[in-house]
Amino acid sequence: MQIDNFKDMYIAELQELVSVEEQLENALLRMAEASSHASLRAALEQHQRETIVQGERLRSILKKHGASPKLHTDQAMQALINETKKMYTIVTQDYVRDAGIIASAQRLEHYEIAAYGTAAALAGQLEFREDQHLLHNSLEQEKRTDELLTTLAKTEVNRDANA
Ligand SMILES: [Fe+2]
Repeated sequence: MQIDNFKDMYIAELQELVSVEEQLENALLRMAEASSHASLRAALEQHQRETIVQGERLRSILKKHGASPKLHTDQAMQALINETKKMYTIVTQDYVRDAGIIASAQRLEHYEIAAYGTAAALAGQLEFREDQHLLHNSLEQEKRTDELLTTLAKTEVNRDANA
């Protein structure tokens, strides 16, 4: 595929994000299952449900623009998730693994925050106000998840891991 205009670049960003969310649907479930702290498991499960909605949001935006949701596999997300899987097999102590899960989940969230920030900015420049609003909602969900993970790390998980 060749991209020769700004709108096509925006569409390609959204298609990457569909792939990101689809990969995360499974990865977040596996991370929740591997979590020992109930609070961490609940946070990951809640964001997994948000992730499904975020994927639907992206598909509805793409449909509105007459674009296919299936064009890219986001390889950066694939690599980040593979690193997470590797961590599970190396860390044997439950609470230490939870600290590792938070570290991995925050990497994934930061990647999404960057991607949604770009997509929302492009929507704004193209004056697709409704898209911009929807993408901003997803961006805020990613940020809230990131903040919740930071709180969990500070208040229980890392403290228990170091006990
Ligand atoms: Fe997401």
